[in-house]
Amino acid sequence: MKKLVVFAALCTAMVACGSGDTKKGTEEKPAGGASTSAPEASANDKGLDMIASLDCTTCHKINEKNIGPAYTDVAKKYETTDANIETLAQKVIKGGSGNWGSVPMTPHPALSVDSAKEMVRYILNLKNAK
Ligand code: HEC
Repeated sequence: MKKLVVFAALCTAMVACGSGDTKKGTEEKPAGGASTSAPEASANDKGLDMIASLDCTTCHKINEKNIGPAYTDVAKKYETTDANIETLAQKVIKGGSGNWGSVPMTPHPALSVDSAKEMVRYILNLKNAK
């Protein structure tokens, strides 16, 4: 009988402990997930987030030429003016070639002008990053 009581107590202790553990586990998960998905660059770079979530990185790298020009080279080529932001945003949406060579950029017709401008602004601002 005494053994049974001890056993029951042990069970209760284990269950209590177990539930405590699972609670702890779920509490820790969101924090871990958030830290792994945090972008490398500063958090205010909304444009960078968009670039990362779209297909841009297939052809573009920040610092080196890939299929498309390096974003830092694009930043060097164009002044950060409203007119250039508009022109380049349209280019991202409509695609095309000629400014960097004969390889065309694919069009991105699903993008809004505002989203395209946000990304172009980020790209052109790379010249201030150094
Ligand atoms: C299929 C490959 C490809 C993809 C995908 C791509 N680009 Fe390009 N991009 C290019 C090429 C090639 C050029 C050079 C075009 C030229 O010579 O005028 C370019 C040029 C650019 C330029 C400079 C345009 C100019 O006229 O100087 C910007 C800005 C740009 N891309 C942004 C983006 C953004 C933002 C995305 C994602 C929405 C993107 N690109 C996706 C290939 C790509």
